[in-house]
This record gives sequence, structure tokens and C-alpha cells, in this order.
Amino acid sequence: MSTTVLVLYYSKHGSVAALAEKIAIGIAQTGANAVIRSIASFDPDQPSRHPLVANSDLSQCDGLAFGSPVRFGNMAAEAKAFWDNTSSIWLKGELINKAAGVFTSSGSMHGGNEANLLSMMLPPLHHGMVLMGIPYAEPELHNTQTGGTPYGPTHVSGLQGNTKLSVDEQRLAVAFGKRLAQLSMSLKSAGFDKQ
Ligand SMILES: Cc1cc2nc3c(=O)[nH]c(=O)nc-3n(C[C@H](O)[C@H](O)[C@H](O)COP(=O)(O)O)c2cc1C
Repeated sequence: MSTTVLVLYYSKHGSVAALAEKIAIGIAQTGANAVIRSIASFDPDQPSRHPLVANSDLSQCDGLAFGSPVRFGNMAAEAKAFWDNTSSIWLKGELINKAAGVFTSSGSMHGGNEANLLSMMLPPLHHGMVLMGIPYAEPELHNTQTGGTPYGPTHVSGLQGNTKLSVDEQRLAVAFGKRLAQLSMSLKSAGFDKQ
């Protein structure tokens, strides 16, 4: 019984996309399928590093990692607009009892990354998903000088938005992907996702 975890994100300058790729590495380490999909920009000329998401990617996944940059303390409008088009999935209850977690990137250290993660949890909760974060058993959570939170992976991209992921941020993103895939597999093998 194969398990598919969707890594779904919006990113303008690539920081959230970089976190998505690390999360996918963690998912793949468990033997689950990692599917990376991006949410289209409102700007039709903006390129995307990964294929654009279709609603079928969401309804067919066994688990979800959802990422967006911080925009004035909240998720990007593109990410919110994506969720606003998922009523048909909600009506069928297709995400109920599936695992989910959230990730983000902010320009500054205290620019709202944790607040954003909390608000990004709202759509998956309304869809009935089982949310998870990162436990303090991960040593990097105690030591990171930049991103990485118990609410989910984060990155601090700096004033110019081009700072690379730190080693701690990378490790926490991989650990998060691994944990999300393990939880997705557990819920699926117990038949919980079908209840
Ligand atoms: C309109 C706008 C609003 C932003 N608001 C915030 C903010 O509230 N706090 C913050 O720390 N960074 C903010 N940023 C910076 C981005 O969150 C940051 O550059 C992020 O790493 C971008 O992710 P991306 O490279 O995946 O697009 C904002 C950027 C833009 C364009």
C-alpha cells in the first residue's frame, strides 16, 4: 500500500520552494512518494520550479505539507485563493483524517513566521486534517539561530530575500517531512483516513 504525501507551496523568490525540496527528501527517506506541486502566481509571467497543482493532487494525497511565504504576517493571497477553491473537496470530506503540516519563510526573524504558521493551519483544520509539527526531540530545534519552529519548518531569508537555508533549517525540514510521511502511513494503514 503506497503512501503519497503532497508538498504544496506558493513561492515568489524561491525560499519556500527550497524548504519544500528538503521536506520532500524527508518524505522519500521513509519510502513514501513525495509529490511537489506549486500554487500559481497571480502574475502569469512568473515561472514555477515545480508543476502547478490541480485539485486532484489534493484529493488523491495521503498527507499534506503546505507552504507559503509570510505576507504582512499572513499567508500569500495566492495560497489563500487556492484553498478558497477547494469547496468540492471539503464537501466530499476527502481530506478528513489525513496528516498535515505547514511551513513558511519570512524576511526577518520576528516578522511573523510563527503567526503565519498558525493561520496557515486553519484551512487544513477546516478540512478535518490531523495537524502535526516538529517535536523538541529534534536537537536543531534547541540550537537554531534562524528558522525552525515546533509549529513547522521555517526559513529567515533576510532583507534581500536571498539568504540560503541554514544547516539547522535544512535538517528540521527533512525531519518534518519524515515525520509527516510516517504519520500519513500510520493513519492510512490503520484505515483512519477512510473513517
Ligand atoms: C508583500 C510582501 C509582504 C511581506 N511581509 C513580510 C512580513 O510581514 N514579515 C516578514 O518577515 N517578511 C515579509 N516579507 C518577506 C517575505 O516573507 C520573504 O522574503 C520570504 O522569504 C519570501 O519567500 P519566497 O522566496 O518563497 O517568495 C514580505 C514580502 C512581500 C513581497
